[in-house]
Amino acid sequence: MKDIIILGVETSCDETAAALVKNGREVLANVVNSQVAIHEQFGGVVPEVASRKHIENIAVVVDAAFRQAGLAYPAIDAVAVTTAPGLIGALLVGLSFAKAFAYGLQRPLIAVNHLQSHIYANFLEHEGIGFPAICLVVSGGHTSLLRMLGPRDYTVIGSTKDDAAGEAFDKVARFLGLGYPGGPAVEKAARQGTPGRYALPRVFLDRHDYQFSFSGLKTATMNLWRKVQLQGGSPADIAAEFQAALVEVLVDKTIRAAEDYGMQTILIAGGVAANQELRRQLGRAAAKAGYRLCCPSLPLCADNAAMVAGQAYHDFLQGHFAGLDLNAQPSGFSL
Ligand code: KG4
Ligand code: ZN
Repeated sequence: MKDIIILGVETSCDETAAALVKNGREVLANVVNSQVAIHEQFGGVVPEVASRKHIENIAVVVDAAFRQAGLAYPAIDAVAVTTAPGLIGALLVGLSFAKAFAYGLQRPLIAVNHLQSHIYANFLEHEGIGFPAICLVVSGGHTSLLRMLGPRDYTVIGSTKDDAAGEAFDKVARFLGLGYPGGPAVEKAARQGTPGRYALPRVFLDRHDYQFSFSGLKTATMNLWRKVQLQGGSPADIAAEFQAALVEVLVDKTIRAAEDYGMQTILIAGGVAANQELRRQLGRAAAKAGYRLCCPSLPLCADNAAMVAGQAYHDFLQGHFAGLDLNAQPSGFSL
């Protein structure tokens, strides 16, 4: 069969990304332009600033991907783009660009869901993932457990009732004065601290279901910090205990779901999957219980377009193409 090369475009948040992927697996180019340094001064992503930066960067990033792969534009068979969920102004930049590019080259356009592409990052890197599987999706906007029967066949068995894991990391980081982006900042501070020096709640740990709640943990962390700060304490021990509490609940519920559903494999996906403590604890628990754990490599946990182009390959094979009237959705068809 002829090789299929897909251009992926991703602008759902604060990374402008383009990638070229062959046959859904072979990454020929993967370019990410991060706006972290720009949003850092505001302590979080400013949506309008993100859109404006995407407009400036998108053509440069796409060109860089073609240069990295040593390919000319006509070498591609389709253009794939993230259309939901995300910041609407940011999504529209990538979508408009992708439409124009597909139209100009007379190639099909493929719409990709951001969360599904985060999950697909596992399939770019790992061979022979066994099914059924449990997938823990932990991103800035979502926290869910999925029961998967195939790479694109899944049902959501539990989600957060309030804050997503990444959102809790970001808010706690900001409150503790650790900076932005919050997840890596809390992880770094936690390395200098000791979990257990203070006690924070493991919310829903005793409930035998797959629901999560991180808003109470976030508030308890903030209240604790107010007290400790007055006593001249450092945020490191609090960051360590917050991370330990959050990770314990994620690991416990994931393993429980794998046991309940008789799974072979555990996958993790999304930005928080880059957290070393989560990877270590889940790795330990999965090994003990006899499950294979697959984690994307760190660059593929963060937003990128390789996962977009990879995911789109399967839509290409099935002829799932979008019309040029395709629109973006801030929270559409989320998991
Ligand atoms: O998955 P993602 O791109 O977000 C959405 O698609 O919604 O990931 C961004 C989130 C942010 O909340 C960020 O703080 C978190 O992932 N994150 C981390 C780490 N790296 C990124 N959280 C914990 N530890 C990390 N090392
Ligand atoms: Zn993401």
